[in-house]
Amino acid sequence: MKNQLIFFVLAIFAASCNTQASKEAPVAAPVTRIAFGSCGYQDQAQPVLRLAAAQQPDAFVFLGDNIYGDTHNMDTLRNKYERWMAKPEYQALKDSTTILATWDDHDYGWNDSGRHYPEKELSKAIFLDVFEVPESDERYTRPGIYTDHMLKAGDKTVQIILLDTRTFRDDVRPYEGQEVDTVAFHYELGYWPYETKDSTMLGEAQWAWLGKVLEKSADLRVIASSTQFGITYNGYEAWANFPHEQERMLELIKAKKANGVVFISGDVHYAEVSKVSYPGLYPIYDVTSSGITSTWGFATPNDNRIQGPVMENHFGLLEMDWGKEELHMKVIDVAGQERFTETVSYKGLKSW
Ligand SMILES: [Fe+2]
Repeated sequence: MKNQLIFFVLAIFAASCNTQASKEAPVAAPVTRIAFGSCGYQDQAQPVLRLAAAQQPDAFVFLGDNIYGDTHNMDTLRNKYERWMAKPEYQALKDSTTILATWDDHDYGWNDSGRHYPEKELSKAIFLDVFEVPESDERYTRPGIYTDHMLKAGDKTVQIILLDTRTFRDDVRPYEGQEVDTVAFHYELGYWPYETKDSTMLGEAQWAWLGKVLEKSADLRVIASSTQFGITYNGYEAWANFPHEQERMLELIKAKKANGVVFISGDVHYAEVSKVSYPGLYPIYDVTSSGITSTWGFATPNDNRIQGPVMENHFGLLEMDWGKEELHMKVIDVAGQERFTETVSYKGLKSW
């Protein structure tokens, strides 16, 4: 009887400890995972999407050239989206996470096209429809497809800003034989940077909107740009062709005291990380993931490259570990191999 009583008292004590323990057990700090990629042919197998789904990301961001539309026929454009989205790999990803998307030239409609692409309104209507954007969404009420999306992770907030670098973009300035390092640029150059400020990537309305959304409270801000933000001039499409717009972006981040900004980009058919240094501002990283199915024969010179290039098909992954206060920028290839991880402390993404 005495033993039973002791057992009973111990059991009560243990139960109360357990209750206490479960109340006070440290909750695992959340990790936010954002997967991303670009440049996929609608009629090719896309195993990269299954690998991305296996990471159980909080969102997957399609950065453009999500299909190769390349048409003025809107039935063709819609049909290509439908063929892509019917793929079991796409369906598996869609069933597992939140899909976010912007466009680049080929899914907007035409190679290297900007604001003069004549079907841009029709193409936009198809984009909003196939990505099942609800009728109440702000994108229906204004030109372009730019928007932002808030992800919650415990008490942390990640803002994903999806830029539209096509609807308002002025024509790119053609390369006309200006003197360049012919060893570095062993390929045919297409474009040359503007030297005046009277051309735009984003257009005034989108710039004004961006200034407003950067005022929102967020712990990390991922800015998705279809073309690369952080690379140096390479003769192809990139923000580097509009250096005044690149500078405007950096000045805006400063003016808004917007901590925690990281860019993700696509378009070029390989992966790399670029690091931009700018006076008075923390380092700005641009993680490029391009090549869900596309590949390219070489990577262009890029003085800001600190990781890569990865030439095989792959997807990108941002892992924000809120416990360790570290951001891991990763690229995982089609064989499932992690090709690089660039880690930055969260303090390293703050100037204020
Ligand atoms: Fe592109």
